Amino acid sequence: MNQRSVAVLVEAGAPTEEELKGEFGRDIYRDFDYDDPRFNTQFNEVLESHLQHCPVARSNVGTGFWWVSRNEDVRKCAQDWKTFSNAGGYQPNRPDGLPYLYPEESDPPRHTAWRNALNPHLSPTTVAGYEDAIRSDCNELIDNFINKGECEFISEFGAVVPGWAFFKNILGVPIKDLKMLVDGVEMGTFAAPEERAHHMGIVFEYLGNYLTQRSKEGPRGDMVDTILKGVTYEDGTEAPWDHKLSVLVDICFGGIATTTYVMASALHHLATHPADRKLLAENLSMMPNAIEEFARVFPPIVGIGRTCTRDVSVAGTDMKKGDFLMLAYSASSRDPRAIENAATVDITRDNVLHTTFGAGPHRCIGSNLARLELRIVMEEWLKRIPEFSLKPGTKPEYLTGFLRSIRKLEFVF
Ligand code: HEM
Repeated sequence: MNQRSVAVLVEAGAPTEEELKGEFGRDIYRDFDYDDPRFNTQFNEVLESHLQHCPVARSNVGTGFWWVSRNEDVRKCAQDWKTFSNAGGYQPNRPDGLPYLYPEESDPPRHTAWRNALNPHLSPTTVAGYEDAIRSDCNELIDNFINKGECEFISEFGAVVPGWAFFKNILGVPIKDLKMLVDGVEMGTFAAPEERAHHMGIVFEYLGNYLTQRSKEGPRGDMVDTILKGVTYEDGTEAPWDHKLSVLVDICFGGIATTTYVMASALHHLATHPADRKLLAENLSMMPNAIEEFARVFPPIVGIGRTCTRDVSVAGTDMKKGDFLMLAYSASSRDPRAIENAATVDITRDNVLHTTFGAGPHRCIGSNLARLELRIVMEEWLKRIPEFSLKPGTKPEYLTGFLRSIRKLEFVF
């Protein structure tokens, strides 16, 4: 029996268990499961229902975990790394034998040591140097399908650009291996839970071979050299090989699946909202703000985990030392307590507040690169294909777990 006897805080006026089962097929307050196919199809409705009535939901999957939704609570937990540790991993019910990924699954001071070493490779100034290369990649991909008058966006463009940007400019990994790695990352996330470790294993093996090969070559002055050089820990020991490999895996995980989802969702929005499409196509200078809004409403990281290091109360729910909780960065970015008209996509919104890139010490290290990719993709697409729509009879195919992704998205133009 893994169900907690502690009552989840549910505010007055909340739907009853029976009403919830009718609406979502299960009690999403006391028995939430982000792998439930109905979460995939009722994504925003579930997030909003949590925000409205249940700031901390309970999941009974495996050993169980808490699901924290409101903006203020999510930010507080993300910042308080001493109470809400990353060292227990980012996912609940972690498969046996899966190595911990640095920097994501570590706490300061080791986390700080790695971030200080890696940050310069992803600073705004460094990534600005990749702008021309990414722009030219976008145009090369568009050239391949523009005369057909249609494309399957994900396979022909969206899943390729972030991988190329990252592999060509930052890691130096051969492009021919990109598809295998993207598939490995996706299957490691969305395959049946018992199969995920196998797919992660493939990614580890490939990147382990790459790191070994690079350790035998001369330095290139890139991020891989920095990873190979490693960091010194607080006790004077040098980071071991396993930690270095895990850094490479973590950066790849972060770098390839997430940005695809935001750009695909943004273009899907424009394909189905002609007034926004026209406004942006005619005013490309509005793009940086529009991108923040797209990131806010289309978050690829639905929720990510922490482990309580002491007994603590979050929004009235008592958590015990050792409990696992997920910070629902997706929900917190549409919390009406923090964002006006939170459910509306408004590309003219100023100072867009969101937690799509996280908060606290683990805030996304790749956000400068992701923003650059998103801006260039949107600019080049709208310059060359200002008029486009969904292929008649099709709709996007989504997959949802702790990440959200689009597998198929067909446009005509
Ligand atoms: C739109 C695209 C992206 C989104 C929405 C996103 C989102 C996030 C979020 C929410 C976190 C915080 C996790 C936590 O609190 O535990 C994070 C961390 C991270 N992201 Fe991203 N990310 C994106 C793109 C990238 C890219 C392009 C890279 C690599 C170049 C990357 C690499 C990482 C890494 C390595 C971490 C762990 C940082 C740490 O633990 O200090 N991400 N990302």
